[in-house]
Amino acid sequence: MNNVKAVPSHVGFIMDGNGRWAKSRKLSHYKGHEAGGARMFGLLRHSFEIGVKTVTCYVLSTENLKRDASEVKGVFLLVSIAIKIFIELSDEFHVKIKFAGDMHALSPRLAKALHKVEEHSLQYEAEGKCIYVCLAYGSRNEIVRAANKALQKGETLTEESLLASLDAPINLDLVIRPGGEHRLSNFMLYQCTYAEIYFSDVLFPDFSDEEYDKALEWYASRKRNFGLRKDNTATKPNN
Ligand code: IPE
Ligand code: IPE
Ligand code: MG
Repeated sequence: MNNVKAVPSHVGFIMDGNGRWAKSRKLSHYKGHEAGGARMFGLLRHSFEIGVKTVTCYVLSTENLKRDASEVKGVFLLVSIAIKIFIELSDEFHVKIKFAGDMHALSPRLAKALHKVEEHSLQYEAEGKCIYVCLAYGSRNEIVRAANKALQKGETLTEESLLASLDAPINLDLVIRPGGEHRLSNFMLYQCTYAEIYFSDVLFPDFSDEEYDKALEWYASRKRNFGLRKDNTATKPNN
């Protein structure tokens, strides 16, 4: 990749367009999700090769759980098949893996298997790299669960403590949404406060490393102000 000046520390992918990709090829929706999953692993490798520290993959939303049961089951099956690849990636790039979302929506068996992946990857925590996998995830649900935890403990939340109590307690620098839609669809509303948001018409399974590089070059060209005057040197807020 050429001319990328500023590499974002945390990139989020809204993995949209799997269904249309499959339909245009007369394939099942499952095959679309399978192709999207394979592409995500390519994008994860590319991310860590170029120095991105944290990558968040939005796999399945709380709203997606209301889709046809067989489609949802198919996504969970693909995640369980991918466990081996998550472990390989974790070991290769020394990256921690964390599943974000309401784990009660998963079968106890899958939840346990994913927890094992998290535990395995904890050995790399000190290296500062992380993959967040958003599964049965909704930003509103994440915020409400975090707020309820504080309520139960009788704590008063602050902006910092709310962020710290989220499943993925880290601000996003760049959000990439392939698939042609221009919205966040309940993705990390709190963590996106000052994220740059890149939209692409390319369907997720076709979102190549070259398309990713285009998004990264666009990101590098952005001037981030964080609410300061344009002639000030922008400093990134630490929360
Ligand atoms: C995104 O692909 C992945 C999930 C929501 C699980 P879609 O299944 O929404 O694909 P399109 O938008 O129908 O093409
Ligand atoms: C967003 O895609 C959710 C994920 C990619 C996991 P959707 O296809 O669910 O989003 P909408 O319905 O077009 O907003
Ligand atoms: Mg969609």
